[in-house]
Amino acid sequence: MIKDTILEVQKQFTEALAQARNSLALEEIKNTFLGRKGKVASLFSMMGNIPAEERKAVGKLLNKLKIDLQSDFDSKVSGFTSSTSKKEWVDYTLPGYSMPKGSRHPLTQAIDDMLSIFQRLGFDIAYGPEVETDWFNFESLNFPPNHPARDMQDTFYTEGGGILRTHTSPVQTRYMSKHEPPVRIVAPGRVFRNEAISARSYCLFHQIEGLYVDTDITFVDLKGTIELFCRMYYGKDVKIKFRTSYFPFTEPSAEVDVSCFLCGGKGCRVCKNTGWLEIMGCGMVDPNVMKSVNYDPEKYTGYAFGLGVERMVMMRLGINDIRLLFENDVEFLRQF
Ligand code: DAH
Repeated sequence: MIKDTILEVQKQFTEALAQARNSLALEEIKNTFLGRKGKVASLFSMMGNIPAEERKAVGKLLNKLKIDLQSDFDSKVSGFTSSTSKKEWVDYTLPGYSMPKGSRHPLTQAIDDMLSIFQRLGFDIAYGPEVETDWFNFESLNFPPNHPARDMQDTFYTEGGGILRTHTSPVQTRYMSKHEPPVRIVAPGRVFRNEAISARSYCLFHQIEGLYVDTDITFVDLKGTIELFCRMYYGKDVKIKFRTSYFPFTEPSAEVDVSCFLCGGKGCRVCKNTGWLEIMGCGMVDPNVMKSVNYDPEKYTGYAFGLGVERMVMMRLGINDIRLLFENDVEFLRQF
């Protein structure tokens, strides 16, 4: 009789264990069969009613049952721990993964900084297209057809006969042809030149163009504004120098040097021991440019300037290869 009950308990246990899908079910099985008031325990408590001559054999069976159930149970639990829990177990007390913060590209940072300085000095921001016409990129800026000055800038042409602008100066004449004086604008943007790619030159770079046209604008206004800009960008101790130069769209023309920010003018590797760094071209707007946009050159005068963003950024951040600014290698960009 009791032997049948033992077999029955064993069977129930095996079935229940096979169906257990989670730790709650296991807990229940443990209580029902192996707990202090469980089925195995109650079988043991029936031992007193067993006739003395059978007691030894039944005791053996019961002990075996208890050991078997316990070991089946244990191996089910360890199966759970290795298959389910190790994969799904989450430690909610661990710190989370943080998302790396993005940052602005060094060129964008420099352009934003410079534009905000010019805005404080009263300049509006203007934009022009990257694919230009010959008229805006050259002719309106006093480059006559076939004039050798066009060779200063190696031009990319599009299939439709457009020009990838070689400088931001066409934004000057575009803006003036739509607005009456006074105009006071800065125009940032990408420009393109068909130059051999090297550490110092790339087929694409950025300029910021400036233009101020009104009655009675003189070279003194140009000088004062550039000086102020340089102090605001490089710090108040910077020295600046104007050197005469040539551009078709300005007369007179000049290039601007600033004292080297690294050595303060003593001479170092950044300024190639000259103490000076060239940062922009500028000059008084040529009367022919005024005429090309129907401004009266007898009535209006103006100045213009154009600065190369990459040069300034490279000098400032100590970057020795312009290509680094265009490769978008995150490991490189993360430094700034
Ligand atoms: N457009 C010239 C260049 O790309 C730079 C420049 C020089 C712009 C003199 C100006 C200027 O507005 O007045 O080389």
